Amino acid sequence: MRIAVNTGGGDAPGLNAVIRAFTLGAIHRGWEVVGIRRGYDGLFMEDGKGIVTLDEEAVRGITHLGGTILGTTNRGNPLEVRNGSDRGDEVVQRIHDLGCDGLVAIGGDGSLTIAAELQRRGLKVIGVPKTIDNDLAATTVTFGFHTAVQTATDAIGRLHSTAEAHRRTMVVEVMGRDAGWIGLFSGLGGTADVILIPEIPFDFDRVCAAVRERYDDGPEFAIVVVSEGARPIGGKVEVVETATPGRPRYGGIADFVAKEITKRAGHETRSLVLGHIQRGGEPTAYDKVLALRFGAAAVELAARGDWGSMVALHPPHVDAVPLAEATARLRLVPLDSDIVQTARSLGVSFGD
Ligand code: F6P
Repeated sequence: MRIAVNTGGGDAPGLNAVIRAFTLGAIHRGWEVVGIRRGYDGLFMEDGKGIVTLDEEAVRGITHLGGTILGTTNRGNPLEVRNGSDRGDEVVQRIHDLGCDGLVAIGGDGSLTIAAELQRRGLKVIGVPKTIDNDLAATTVTFGFHTAVQTATDAIGRLHSTAEAHRRTMVVEVMGRDAGWIGLFSGLGGTADVILIPEIPFDFDRVCAAVRERYDDGPEFAIVVVSEGARPIGGKVEVVETATPGRPRYGGIADFVAKEITKRAGHETRSLVLGHIQRGGEPTAYDKVLALRFGAAAVELAARGDWGSMVALHPPHVDAVPLAEATARLRLVPLDSDIVQTARSLGVSFGD
């Protein structure tokens, strides 16, 4: 067999580990693997520059590397209709022209939706879920999430000293468009006083009351963690750019919240955005192992001819779900989850 691999959407720590595990597993079965660079863009690059042979040498020493050796994009959707048609059929044809029997698509909701449509159009596809946001319902956890949480938690931990020394309120914006998993976990692990997540629209009066309490009865500083997709009750998500239709760039909520706290509570406040720091760097051991398991599982699915499926973690097993269902539902933070309850019982405010 000969199988193509690509990575699409925003990068996440662990992509390279998946590539390595899939490639080595496939080679050990006597198969060939080729990588498509930058999502599907590589198929359209001149002189075959967008296609790379993945052999043992190509994937040596990459398990610990962030990013992706294949490159990625969250802009070039081949299914976007331009001048009356899209390039989906062309993608399928070009992958077949490469002599490939199928594609392993490593991506988040956007990339896996594209992959499912390509499968419908005649390409054999296996999906591997990726997103630091951990918002795919079909798998209990995606690789990259654990690393992002660790990075955010470390950063929040470092803010305590300045907050305390200056008696300030520090408002930290973390990633999470629809789901507040990173905010919830890093806020809890970083001992934030207020955690604002997309699933719980907040009331500024309550946020300020929680902050004020810290100054009146406590240590006179406060840490607020806010997901980029959080919004006040009746308000909108803060957006910094709308250039890509259907996928605006979120950002600015920390600054908004900080200004409102200064105005209403009168405390000196600072805001910061952790941004892409959360997507970079070496994956944690947990993410490395999960990513390697996903890559190996994709080989097993291909060997069984289980195309049209996505690998998924359902502890303790890595198994498969239909690709069409993979992106059907988002994994949001359940409001009655024990993690939310844990935060509440610790006295953390969600601004509700
Ligand atoms: O989907 C993952 C994510 O990290 C989101 O949380 C964030 O909104 C987005 O990527 C940012 O993507 P980029 O800046 O690369 O367009």
